[in-house]
Amino acid sequence: MKAITLDRFGGRDVLKLTNQPLPEIGPQDILIHVKAAGVNPVDWKIREGLLQGRLPHQFPIILGWEASGVVKKVGEKVTRFKMGDPVMSYTRKDVIQGGAYAEYVSVPEKNAAKKPENLSFEEAAALPLAGLTAYQSLFDALKLKSGETILIHAGAGGVGGFAIQLAKNTGAHIITTASSYNHEYVRSLGAEVVIDYNKENFAEIIDQKFPNGLDTVYDTYGEPVQDKSISILKKGGRFCSILEIPNADIYKNQGYKISYVFVSPNAVQLEELGELACKGRLKITITHIFPLEEAKRAHEQSETGHTRGKIILTL
Ligand SMILES: NC(=O)c1ccc[n+]([C@@H]2O[C@H](COP(=O)([O-])OP(=O)(O)OC[C@H]3O[C@@H](n4cnc5c(N)ncnc54)[C@H](OP(=O)(O)O)[C@@H]3O)[C@@H](O)[C@H]2O)c1
Repeated sequence: MKAITLDRFGGRDVLKLTNQPLPEIGPQDILIHVKAAGVNPVDWKIREGLLQGRLPHQFPIILGWEASGVVKKVGEKVTRFKMGDPVMSYTRKDVIQGGAYAEYVSVPEKNAAKKPENLSFEEAAALPLAGLTAYQSLFDALKLKSGETILIHAGAGGVGGFAIQLAKNTGAHIITTASSYNHEYVRSLGAEVVIDYNKENFAEIIDQKFPNGLDTVYDTYGEPVQDKSISILKKGGRFCSILEIPNADIYKNQGYKISYVFVSPNAVQLEELGELACKGRLKITITHIFPLEEAKRAHEQSETGHTRGKIILTL
């Protein structure tokens, strides 16, 4: 099968179009004929070797942690899917190797969900990684409730955009940070207060507008915003990040509820996200679509750090 692979870590030039053997499937796996694959910052972080110490890997690596497509083959114990079913799935393996930048990817059936009929394959491939990350952060970690205030950093990004909408559906009040060209966009998703982090100090503005402090902060940007984010929480407020939190223990000792989320597969949550998208309650924004062969261009876009919504590879 055709795949984009790397046989060493490095810049975008290590990405090569190669021929690879078809993935093998176990009794509880399905083989997906990939129609579209999502591109996420983790892909170029792995490519650069930045996650070598944290995630085991084996070359040649096929990147890509989310996909949509059609079931080509099912293992003998698979019960929920049959050949020909359109599906979407989170595709990360315990050992980083067989990802979704390929004609075929295998996943355990428990990670996959039926692709809703009125979502395109591109839309379905854009949902698993960023959608599940936002869902698990807001509901499993932060336990966000109606009427609460939440600051969501980087609201125009893949994760931030889903988080704003999920928080809005819950009845929370949303403050977000984005460059000015994205303000109208994040407002359209449900943000009530929008701060241009390039020009304004978000903590000062929030301090003035919410003198009693916020209930929760969701950090999808990283360490540079963490100290200030915690300083604007109510006493005992909740903070969740999807990036490392070097000072987590200090904040916990001060009484804050601090959590780090590393997204995990969950077919039930993915189905729920699909239903929300079908009902028009979760808009899937795709701003860049590239053919698989142009994976380098897709990485170049992701590496800008300023993608609105999602980047997709099509096959
Ligand atoms: N732990 C996990 O399981 C997990 C899961 C998913 C993602 N992540 C990580 O979370 C991060 C976000 O992922 P993503 O897919 O949402 O990335 P993304 O789509 O590439 O996010 C890009 C967004 O970040 C915004 N941004 C850039 N600099 C900013 C700043 N200083 N302050 C606020 N916003 C800023 C940009 O907004 P403007 O263009 O408006 O400036 C852009 O819309 C990545 O580092 C990713 O690796 C972790």
